[in-house]
Amino acid sequence: MAQSTRRDFIKTTGVATVGTAALAASSYAAVQGANERVVVGVIGPGGMGTHHIRTLLKQKDVRIAQVCDVDRTRLATAAKNATQDNRVPTTTTDMRRLLENRDIAAVFIATPDHWHGPATLLALAAGKHVYVEKPASHNIREGRLMIEAARAARKICQVGMQSRSTEMNMTAMRMIQEGAIGDVLSVRVWNSQLRRTIGRVKPSAVPKQLDYENWLGPAPFVPYQANRVHGVWRWWYDFGTGDMGNDGVHDLDVARWGLGVDSHPSTITALGGKYFFNDDQQFPDTQTVIFEWPSVGKNNQKKQMIFEQRIWTPYKMEGYENGCAFYGTRGMFLVGHSEGWRLFGARNKELKTVTGRADLLAHHRNFFACVRSGNRPSADIEIGHLASSLCHLGNIATRVRRVINFDPKTEEIRNDKEAGPMVRRTYRAHWARPRGV
Ligand SMILES: NC(=O)c1ccc[n+]([C@@H]2O[C@H](COP(=O)([O-])OP(=O)(O)OC[C@H]3O[C@@H](n4cnc5c(N)ncnc54)[C@H](O)[C@@H]3O)[C@@H](O)[C@H]2O)c1
Repeated sequence: MAQSTRRDFIKTTGVATVGTAALAASSYAAVQGANERVVVGVIGPGGMGTHHIRTLLKQKDVRIAQVCDVDRTRLATAAKNATQDNRVPTTTTDMRRLLENRDIAAVFIATPDHWHGPATLLALAAGKHVYVEKPASHNIREGRLMIEAARAARKICQVGMQSRSTEMNMTAMRMIQEGAIGDVLSVRVWNSQLRRTIGRVKPSAVPKQLDYENWLGPAPFVPYQANRVHGVWRWWYDFGTGDMGNDGVHDLDVARWGLGVDSHPSTITALGGKYFFNDDQQFPDTQTVIFEWPSVGKNNQKKQMIFEQRIWTPYKMEGYENGCAFYGTRGMFLVGHSEGWRLFGARNKELKTVTGRADLLAHHRNFFACVRSGNRPSADIEIGHLASSLCHLGNIATRVRRVINFDPKTEEIRNDKEAGPMVRRTYRAHWARPRGV
């Protein structure tokens, strides 16, 4: 264990005078002292996890005590990356060891999507605050369990949708809410990030540095295949959520925010498929989904969201690779993911343009401020669940190719034997299998 981690924890949680028995996981204070370091663990320091490590190291009131990855090569790199002031974090390939580490008050989870729910549930049960990557979950039921677990544990659960803490987005949303384009009834969302083929590959031997059993976790067993691990798991139903849950979720979340809807849509329809890639990936490369809310706000206003995805064309819609166009009764607001925004008045008159980038550091700062204050974070798990559910519902509708009717209260799909079971998944026997699914 790295030096002085226990001292940091005691300073951080303010439980120095409490005996060892009372240091049970559930005893972590929800609110941290203003000037003390929050001790964190990073689970899944791959592509995005490495960004988190870099961003964590910029914050003087945070310390990385432990890193966990099922790939020992990546784990060793992460330990090096997370070393600061000659303090090397401890390492483990088993997240249970990290979750048992009483020095750690908060965890960053940047595993593949199929682990977000199971790891978050375990972390909350161990008394940790959680920052979990987007999409919040791999399916709708997991998201609900995560909300319930966060509330029961009284811990912060922030989802990695950094637009929520990015100043330029907050300004745009405030302007929309204050009526800059009148009443917003409809929003169009798009994702046109260029993607590569994953080819066609046969199963092969598991690389010796990888604990594949625990990479799979409670997801169904499939033999190891090089175009599933790492990064490319995104394009497989068992592990990812396609590009709708990958990049689309950021813009779908902003679209929900600006449209002013605070529940799930009731009606979803979609068409799409693999029009371009001739390879193993399962999710659509071309996809159009329409969501409808039948009654929003005091006026029972109908609202609509359209999501378009073409991940093979270099054309940037409205000048932004990913973004949203909010249509109001007095104008239009274009918001590009990590690029900026443009406001248009009547007759397409451009009124204002802003450029900027999504702000990961600000999202971390929001998380840590909430760990200290106990306030709800900007991308609280409930917001993450509603945004991620749009991806899950859109992907389900695309798979069954028809209108699906969703009950926002019960979170079940009505009268559809094929689509209905897709709001949850079947887990295999594994120590991380969630309960109550
Ligand atoms: N917020 C953003 O802008 C943003 C950007 C990119 C990725 N992401 C999200 O970050 C997550 C990771 O994406 P990535 O591209 O870094 O994937 P990746 O495959 O490169 O990294 C995932 C890492 O998790 C590790 N891992 C898998 N199972 C584990 C387990 N049980 N315990 C510990 N480690 C485990 C893998 O070995 C790998 O190193 C995804 O959910 C993705 O959607 C978010």
